[in-house]
Amino acid sequence: MRVDIISIFPEYFAPLDVSLMGKARERGILDIHLHQLRDWTHDVHKTVDDTPYGGGPGMVMKPEVWGEAVDAVIEDGRAASGGDALPRLIVPTPSGRPFTQEVALEYAEEPWLLFAPARYEGIDSRVVAEYGERLRTDEVSIGDYVLAGGEAAVLVMVEAVGRLLPGVLGNARSVADDSFAPGDMANLLEGPVYTKPPVWRGHEVPEVLLSGHHGRIARWRRDEALRRTLDRRPELVARLDRDGLDKHDRRVIEEFEERLEERRSAAASRPGFRAAPEDVAD
Ligand code: ADE
Repeated sequence: MRVDIISIFPEYFAPLDVSLMGKARERGILDIHLHQLRDWTHDVHKTVDDTPYGGGPGMVMKPEVWGEAVDAVIEDGRAASGGDALPRLIVPTPSGRPFTQEVALEYAEEPWLLFAPARYEGIDSRVVAEYGERLRTDEVSIGDYVLAGGEAAVLVMVEAVGRLLPGVLGNARSVADDSFAPGDMANLLEGPVYTKPPVWRGHEVPEVLLSGHHGRIARWRRDEALRRTLDRRPELVARLDRDGLDKHDRRVIEEFEERLEERRSAAASRPGFRAAPEDVAD
């Protein structure tokens, strides 16, 4: 996969030389090209931003420099491949669509990704309007918080996508067992994991994992995934495919909900209890 990244901080991407991504690059599985956006400016100060129309705080990245940069990088990539391929353009922004494991899997199928991370208040919106007509263009958010710029989001996305490319993880591990992986793990968090020793500071490894019984271990892992998801991300449980749940799954969910209800009523009967606002009738 070819990956182009245009940024005013290309040095930000040094971590892509390390560990799994570094190896994927060495092996030629991941072909990453970093570009300095300021190379496409024409003034002595190499200006990439300007004040926002309509007023307000902060600065907005200028469309001309992004246009020249994106055009040149596409031209370059096409010349290198000798074809007429076009990249998928990804613009990280907190106001984008959520980046999920499903999106990572979709991107992992692409031969060429072009990332355009912004600094300041973002890129003039006409850039996405322009390339949205010429390329498949996505504005993507990695979470409901605001970073100082899109670079960290690009690192996150390249790593999430890169590890899915064939040959990167090797045969030792299947990405099908990951949290959120489509299939059995869709909308589920992975449960706890353990290694040797069997007892550490008095904490024991669950007996079933030492049993060597593959069926029971698989069942236990699924139960733990369900319990952890119910506890930490109940909104994901609501999205579980009900037809994909077996009798045992349903029992685990019911038991968890019963215990939760018991804890709630125990808390409610304690002196000094005040109902949460959502539990108070209007
Ligand atoms: N740039 C700033 N915050 C971001 C976020 N949460 N996701 C993607 N890009 C961003």
